[in-house]
Amino acid sequence: MWQPSERIRYQSSLGPVPSAQAVAQSRLFDPVRVGALELTNRIWVPAMVPWRANEAGEVTDDVIDWYARFAQGQPGAIVMEATGIRDVPSGPLLRLSHDRYIAGLQRVVEAVKRASGGKTRLLIQLIDFLRIRRRPNPETFFRRHLVLSAALLQRAGLDPATPPDEAREALLSLGPARWQQVLDAADYRDLQYGARESVNDVHLPHVASLPHELPELFAQAAARAKQAGLDGVELHYAHAYTMASFLSTTNTRSDGYGGSLENRLKVPLAVLARVRDRVGTGFTVGCRMLTEECIDGGTSVDVSCQYAVALAKAGMDFISTSRGGKFDDAKQPGVGQAAYPYTGRSGYECMPSRISDALGPFGRNRHATQRVRHALRAQGLEQPVVGVGGIHNFAQAEEMLNAQVCDVVGLARQSLADPDWPRKIRDGHASSVRVCEYTNYCEGLDQKHKQVTCQLWDRQGMQAPGVKKTHDGKRRLVAPEWSPIAVITG
Ligand SMILES: Cc1cc2nc3c(=O)[nH]c(=O)nc-3n(C[C@H](O)[C@H](O)[C@H](O)COP(=O)(O)O)c2cc1C
Ligand code: SF4
Repeated sequence: MWQPSERIRYQSSLGPVPSAQAVAQSRLFDPVRVGALELTNRIWVPAMVPWRANEAGEVTDDVIDWYARFAQGQPGAIVMEATGIRDVPSGPLLRLSHDRYIAGLQRVVEAVKRASGGKTRLLIQLIDFLRIRRRPNPETFFRRHLVLSAALLQRAGLDPATPPDEAREALLSLGPARWQQVLDAADYRDLQYGARESVNDVHLPHVASLPHELPELFAQAAARAKQAGLDGVELHYAHAYTMASFLSTTNTRSDGYGGSLENRLKVPLAVLARVRDRVGTGFTVGCRMLTEECIDGGTSVDVSCQYAVALAKAGMDFISTSRGGKFDDAKQPGVGQAAYPYTGRSGYECMPSRISDALGPFGRNRHATQRVRHALRAQGLEQPVVGVGGIHNFAQAEEMLNAQVCDVVGLARQSLADPDWPRKIRDGHASSVRVCEYTNYCEGLDQKHKQVTCQLWDRQGMQAPGVKKTHDGKRRLVAPEWSPIAVITG
């Protein structure tokens, strides 16, 4: 992953241990309404893909264990990982693209209810993404993928009548320095990074038709989530994926769905309208969106404020903010690997690590989130805003709420490091919290599509009976059990 050149090292900490009175009077443990839901506290576990579904995109026992473990801590809400809305093979990524996935989700709903004693609400993040190919080796690229054109042959100094196989071999033999000169920018990028479709590729029929297809795909998935007993959906309008790409200021589509701010908003609004139409007002529908894309020419917070207002006016029940996480500045993958949107500077902005710059890894999205919230309130819009970014102790969370940065605090990596965080803080065991060190070991596993665990606990108690392990048997899959009695008795 990209890291700032300053390389300043930050240390996360427990912070002051709150008294029972401070907890009782806190905003953190003050219930909050999110659409049709009442959350018992303002602690939110944001979506995190743990790579535990099977190849058919189905819920497995490991998926259930993962969510039940977070639920034991009794956060106000958990958002299940990014879940695909298309019925196409997508590897071990959860899917909600057919009714056959409903039964699996029902099992997660029941497990979360049981593990949290009914205190935690469960939502699911719905995602659409475009095709991305692995970086090809040059032989494959020139012999199979490259589309030959007269202009290309001319730039390479080849006779336009050269038989295709011969032309391909000739181009391949030119070597890296000449490839950059003869290939057009898009082909050269595909050779260097692997071909990646964009919402701007309106010459591709399936990309041109996205505005007409997406609303129904999202609506069907949301209806299934409701049928499975989930408490709500989070539409994934953030990071590197289709909906964020429609919102992006880099969306230059000329078919009425790109260019101006109004045009860029059309598909996200149409998706919301169709989803709402299908699930009704009694079911919570919110979105995750970027405050800033953190790429050259990308969406700024001024523009995001306008998006948030438009989405809230159209009936979005909550706005959860994130930043960055784009393909545009992703590092070049190795041959045979796919580009990953969290490897460049924008990826760092999304999941900053403890090695940072003057801004540091804690509260990087604070100012921008506050601006988004302020823009909503200025228009009389009361929807709660969920903020994330390196939040790991009570004082930090409470300060964010009191400073009106957000109404709900999202703790992603801290929840992974210690899923019992909410209960420990609430019940006077804050000093036993396992504090996330922001090493991004977990994010590295995510990048390799390996089962995600935390280095602070994944080798502990490996011999204990019933401990489930990763495929290679080297790590445990969920955090060890914690009980207050064990702490008191030592
Ligand atoms: C392993 C892992 C998987 C993630 N998967 C998702 C995801 O599916 N959807 C999403 O919107 N964000 C995802 N994120 C980003 C987090 O939700 C969160 O925005 C980010 O980690 C910053 O919050 P934190 O500082 O509290 O960790 C993921 C993060 C991690 C570490
Ligand atoms: S591996 Fe654990 S400690 Fe490291 S960043 Fe992830 S959650 Fe935090």
